Amino acid sequence: MLALDGPSGAGKGTIGQICAVKFGWHYLDSGAIYRGLGWLAGNQGVSFDNVSSLVVLADSMNLTCHVCETDSAKIEINGHMVTDELRTDEAGQTASRIAPIPEVRAALLNMQRRCRIAPGLVADGRDMGTIVFPDALYKVFLTASAEIRAQRRFDQLKAKGFDVNLARLLESIQARDVRDSNRDASPLKPAEDALILDTSELTIDEVVTRILALVN
Ligand code: C5P
Repeated sequence: MLALDGPSGAGKGTIGQICAVKFGWHYLDSGAIYRGLGWLAGNQGVSFDNVSSLVVLADSMNLTCHVCETDSAKIEINGHMVTDELRTDEAGQTASRIAPIPEVRAALLNMQRRCRIAPGLVADGRDMGTIVFPDALYKVFLTASAEIRAQRRFDQLKAKGFDVNLARLLESIQARDVRDSNRDASPLKPAEDALILDTSELTIDEVVTRILALVN
């Protein structure tokens, strides 16, 4: 099992899926779970103050993550393909507003742990190596400067036809870093036994090669 954590735009989705395909393992995009719950809540008019209804929604959410080696994972929720809806910057912001709620995190824990099935799992998120899978054999924390992460997100969203602004994306990434790192419940931080990889100056192939070296 490989736990792959790090801030938004560090390359976890791309790298995680490539590694999952190379190892022949399953892949979990845990960010999609928080994005998906935010999307469901928005659709059903559930306010983020209404914690008990959020927990009911979390319990009823059936999310499948289809690996796509050349793009973001394709996400299906309760039978609907919602990849594009979940990939927007707004969906990421919404996710990071419900993610600090401890009851929500607790409700989503088993769903994530159930993904750990043979022959193996690559799980990407913020707390994979610290809280969800603390006994993962391999732990990597990917990071990069906020400017580089914003540029990557910009390129990714632009290529998909979204109307994006680099300065606003940088602001949004920095706001999300602060929220994700400073919350009490499962804050974004490397596990003590994680390999920390700054990907600012590395290509995707170079990052994958380093992870393969660790796992092999
Ligand atoms: O990784 P992604 O950008 O899709 O995550 C969206 C948001 O979901 C993050 O900013 C974070 O607030 C939350 N998240 C989390 N724990 C995870 C994965 C994501 O709190 N394991």
